Parts: sequence; structure tokens; C-alpha cells
Amino acid sequence: MAHALDELIAEGVSGRHVLVRSDLNVPLKGTTVTDDGRVKASLPVLKKLADAGARVIVTAHLGRPKGKVDPQYSIAPAAARLAELADFNVVVATDVVGEDAQAKAAALKDGEVLVVENVRYDARETSKDDTERGAFADELVALTGENGAYVDDAFGAVHRKHASVYDVAKRLPSYLGDLVKKEVDVLAKTLNNPERPFVVVMGGSKVSDKLAVIDNLIGKADTLLIGGGMGYTFAAAQGYKVGKSILEEDQIENVQRYLKEAPEKGTEIIIASDIVWSDDFSNDANTEIRPIEDLEGGKLGAEAEGLDIGPKTREIFAEKIKGAKTVFWNGPVGVFEIPAFSEGTKSVAQALVSSEAFSIIGGGDSASAVRNLGFDDAQFGHISTGGGASLEYIEGKTLPGLDALGA
Ligand code: 3PG
Repeated sequence: MAHALDELIAEGVSGRHVLVRSDLNVPLKGTTVTDDGRVKASLPVLKKLADAGARVIVTAHLGRPKGKVDPQYSIAPAAARLAELADFNVVVATDVVGEDAQAKAAALKDGEVLVVENVRYDARETSKDDTERGAFADELVALTGENGAYVDDAFGAVHRKHASVYDVAKRLPSYLGDLVKKEVDVLAKTLNNPERPFVVVMGGSKVSDKLAVIDNLIGKADTLLIGGGMGYTFAAAQGYKVGKSILEEDQIENVQRYLKEAPEKGTEIIIASDIVWSDDFSNDANTEIRPIEDLEGGKLGAEAEGLDIGPKTREIFAEKIKGAKTVFWNGPVGVFEIPAFSEGTKSVAQALVSSEAFSIIGGGDSASAVRNLGFDDAQFGHISTGGGASLEYIEGKTLPGLDALGA
């Protein structure tokens, strides 16, 4: 049984160094944070600890710098955003476990928060070798001095067996952060005991990434609505021509199996019945809306690619979402970054906010999509901070970060 953060607060943290793994992996444009959802989601636990007088040391990753110092992956912009939003003092170190981090950790005052540099600047963080990761974890733990504690609040990273997620938890008294607890509670209920009808909207570009999720949802979800790039493999599996659309031919057989199995297990799978076909991957491309079964009948011909779900499909999806009690959404249903192909994704988001269903948005891309399309977090039941983590949870996998905490 994992220990909750409140147990640590009750034990007393004033004057103690507490190592917190946060998820500050935010999208950047230069040094500007373009979606600060994860920074905002990390704040409450840091504030709770700071208010209780802890000396907090935050570890986090940003992107995949592959074990080398690379300024484009510096945690500094995310830490600066945290400092702007926080009502406690935030100090930033220029290294991870080096002289600067050590000096700043030792100089922390009660209620202050230190953010050390991107943990993935150190190759040992993600090493497959337990000894290497362990050595790095020892150095992270050493920052806490005597009587340290560890809080995992990085739901987005719980599926990684990394030093700052897994190995430190084995070395310090460890606690489950409130964000991780909330995420796990919501996902567990969604998966094991959803209010029905339970509708899942799946999008994104790759079927292969999501096969295991689909596998685990067949028999659990009442309806699976498939859109986005992965939808074309489903269309091809049903014998439709998909032109130049993204297609994973080696997955067609798996998808055919799902299409056969799903109704036998009580899950209906619905794919797009009309598509926004396009002659180019750009906003000023020539586009045409045509039924999925009639790509070649249009002016763009057999060379077109599908980049969004069409208006009829949007209506069908919206109708299913309207009748649902629980909706889990992972992956945009079109290329929402390009305005000409954002209507499908917008319509799914709109259907979710208009419906009475409890809505869960799983995944970094879907969360960024709804924010970038102008929706507010408060309009949804739960926006997960974890992309890969929420998917692996839904797949039913054991997540190392949770495992290490006994959760
Ligand atoms: C995410 O963005 O899903 C998490 O922060 C994990 O990042 P990773 O896939 O690079 O481990």
C-alpha cells in the first residue's frame, strides 16, 4: 500500500528536504511555454509542501536530450513559468546533481523550492543498467541530506523505469503525490467501473502505438469511435481505398481481428463514414469531403489523403458522445494543428463539453489540442497530464513508478 503525501505532511516536513519528481515536460516555442497545463498541475503538491515548511527539491525532465546537456531541452523555461505562477520562492539550479544543485539544495530555506536541471541531461537517468541508474539515484538522494523524503507527483513519467522515478523511491521514504493519486483514481474507475454507456474516442496517427489499448478496451467499452491517422488502417481493413493517407499495412490483420472480436464481446467499433480528403498537407491545399467508400469518385481522385473526419462522421460521433455517461478520449481525430483540418477534433471537444458524460482526456496531444483550440480545462471531467502513462495504465500494464511506491 502506497503512502499518501498527507501522511508525510502529518509526520512533519518543516526543515526537511523533500525530493519531488514533477512532470514539467511542457511544449516550448523557443523559450516560451506554449501549454503550461503540466506546470499548473504540479503546483498544488509543491505548495502543500512549501506551506508545511519543507525544503523542496524538484526533479523533472523536458523532452529527450539523450543523456547530454543540450540547452534546447533546459528545464529553465518551465521553472520560470512555475516561478511566475507560484506564491513560494523558486530557485533554479544550472546542473542536475553538480556543484550548483548541491550548493542551492544546502542553502534552501523552509518553504522554498529548488528546481534542478533536466534529469535527462544525465545519461544514467534512463539507463537500462540498474547499477548506473542506482548511482545517479544515490546522487539525487544525497541532495536531501539527512532525513529526506521522496514524493512522486509526475504521473506523466510513472511508466518509465528511470532513476528519478523508480530508483529514488527505493532509497527514501516515499509518498504518492496528490496528482498521481487523482490520475490513478480516475483511470482505475474509468477502466474497472465506468458509468455506462462508456464511449472511447481514439485518434492519433499510429495504430501500432495503441493496439494494446484497443485490445484491453474491447469488451470494456460500449463504443469505440476511431478517427485520426489510425482510422485509415481501420478503413483499409474493411476494404476501403485510402489513397495516400497514413496507413500501417502490417497492422491490417490485427485490426481485422479487432473488428471481428469487438461485436462478439459487446463493443461496437465505428470508423469515419466521410473524410476531408486533401491533395496536400497544408492549410491552402485543395480539399474535398467524400464518403469513405468513394475516394476515387471525387475531383482529387485516388491520390488524395485523408486529414480529418467529415461532417457526417462528426455528427455520428457527437451523437454517441451525447448519449454516453463516460467518455475517454485519446488522440486528435484530424490534423488539428492545421486549421483546415481541425474541425473534426474541435467537434469532438465540443461534443464532450456539451454532454453530461464524465469526460477524461488522456494524452499529451489531446490535452494540448483542446487547449490550443480554445477550450478550458474546467470544461472537462479530467484532463490527464500523462500521455504514454495513461495509455499504459489503460493497457493494464504495471507502471514502474507506481510499483516502486507500492501503489
Ligand atoms: C510525456 O510527455 O508523455 C511524459 O512527460 C513522458 O515523456 P517521455 O515519453 O519522453 O518519457
